[in-house]
Amino acid sequence: MKTVNTIAEVREVVKAWKREGLIVGLVPTMGYLHEGHKSLMDAARKQCDKVVVSIFVNPMQFGPGEDLESYPRDMERDTAVCEAAGVDLIFHPEPSEMYQDDFSSFVDMNTLTGNLCGKTRPIHFRGVCTVVSKLFHIVTPDKAYFGQKDAQQLAVIRHMVSDMNEDIEIVGCPIIRETDGLAKSSRNTYLSDSERRAALCLSRAVFAGQDMVKSGERNAGKVRQAMVEIIEAEPLARIDYVQLVDFRTLEDVEVIQGPMLAAMAVYIGKTRLIDNFITE
Ligand code: PAJ
Repeated sequence: MKTVNTIAEVREVVKAWKREGLIVGLVPTMGYLHEGHKSLMDAARKQCDKVVVSIFVNPMQFGPGEDLESYPRDMERDTAVCEAAGVDLIFHPEPSEMYQDDFSSFVDMNTLTGNLCGKTRPIHFRGVCTVVSKLFHIVTPDKAYFGQKDAQQLAVIRHMVSDMNEDIEIVGCPIIRETDGLAKSSRNTYLSDSERRAALCLSRAVFAGQDMVKSGERNAGKVRQAMVEIIEAEPLARIDYVQLVDFRTLEDVEVIQGPMLAAMAVYIGKTRLIDNFITE
């Protein structure tokens, strides 16, 4: 496994692979890797000849007052995780390698980004689309892997690839959870012991909502209310949003029919956590 910091080095390695006709998979990450990221690497390892992991805490997707500076970083551990997962190349650029001083082009989306996380994080998806688009141009993967943990991000990236006619297959991977249900996240490290216990209200609400829909409930308002009540019973939790939306348009639904995303963002103390479930 090789780690490189420059775009030129990535291009050199990938061009050699492509000359051999090899299938290249990309797993974009911000590092501090856990089992969730590992599951994406495993899927890429199974489906591709070569696997590239990018590790870049992208300043452009963090708003003012968000956790850019405190976002956890540990390159040594991340390198070991990638090595164990059979990754071929880590791309770990400095911000100056990705954004020159005169950088001024952005990938922005009019639909899909105004609701859910886009409401509280208005510049977030512009930052995500711009960096992912840049990574796609740099690595030129055949397939790219994204987690359903960030369901809105997955929908936005799929839409961007379709809009821009990018010849890249976007592979969505299921949410990986701790044994007690909490969705794995690099941000879980911010939680104190009592907050860690409180954070279980998210997965409890997800499982309860999922059970109601499985049992035949089609009234989105009722499912939402049950989820909200579970979270509101937790004193350390403060809801940012709990919404049931059409997974294709990300617009709110009243009746559950077709692909539906039930998504939430909840502050536990100062830490903002997200979780969701999708029904077909
Ligand atoms: P990051 O939060 O590091 O996540 C990288 C990828 O891992 C995303 O596709 C995310 O959905 C997936 N992931 C995180 N936790 C997961 C879990 N518990 N189960 C399954 N998949 C999980 O998402 C980003 O970085 C950035 O926005 C990025 C796409 C890299 C652009 O900067």
